[in-house]
Amino acid sequence: MSKTLIIGASGQIGKMTAKLLQSQQQQVVALVRDKSKLSDLSDSFLTIVEQDLEGDFSQAFTGCDQVIFAAGSGGNTGADKTILIDLWAATKAANYAKDHDIKNFIMVSSIGADDPDAIESELKPYLVAKHRADEHLKQSGLNYTIVRPGALTDESASMKISTERPSDRSDAKISRENVANSLAHIASKPSSKKAIFELFDGDQAISSL
Ligand SMILES: NC(=O)c1ccc[n+]([C@@H]2O[C@H](COP(=O)([O-])OP(=O)(O)OC[C@H]3O[C@@H](n4cnc5c(N)ncnc54)[C@H](OP(=O)(O)O)[C@@H]3O)[C@@H](O)[C@H]2O)c1
Repeated sequence: MSKTLIIGASGQIGKMTAKLLQSQQQQVVALVRDKSKLSDLSDSFLTIVEQDLEGDFSQAFTGCDQVIFAAGSGGNTGADKTILIDLWAATKAANYAKDHDIKNFIMVSSIGADDPDAIESELKPYLVAKHRADEHLKQSGLNYTIVRPGALTDESASMKISTERPSDRSDAKISRENVANSLAHIASKPSSKKAIFELFDGDQAISSL
């Protein structure tokens, strides 16, 4: 049975994913900067490591087989946090994973991270950070799955997704619950692979990923 480190386990997707893995009786190591934010999680199959991602968080990787990076600086912070979290913490996470012989690294990236020049928007610095972090992971030698969700919504899980970008931009969205269920599915069947795909609400079963 895998032991999965979830980086950003107090976040919306990170916490949902932790709960799903716990319900599958999979061991979870939850990396957070404030453990009080996990008070609603069951103690079962859970280890909490309290550490800020702006520091050295390598210790959290000890004994883990796989990693889910679900952290992010969020839309209410500036370019400094975009660099420190979305780029630098993600880069350090891949380095620590390599040092700890992690078998599988699942990265929550973003639609648009493949080609930040494709759109002119205020999101461009964030997309550049995500792009560079993804490229670093791709070149790390680790097995990885890079998931690039569309715009996140708070709708309930439909459990149906698509990896094909919708032709209408306004349809390029996915519920956080669908993302979390997809991450839990990917984490429950670790394999030696290198995969990158965008993710949207759709009509395919999550189990088809
Ligand atoms: N919003 C979108 O439409 C969209 C689209 C595609 C991809 N994404 C990506 O999906 C990710 C997950 O989404 P979400 O809604 O679950 O995000 P969220 O709720 O904002 O969660 C972000 C997580 O990162 C953690 N974090 C930030 N800075 C940290 C630090 N210095 N040390 C430790 N932890 C830190 C937060 O911890 P605290 O709880 O302590 O703040 C939280 O656990 C986003 O961050 C983004 O990169 C978003």
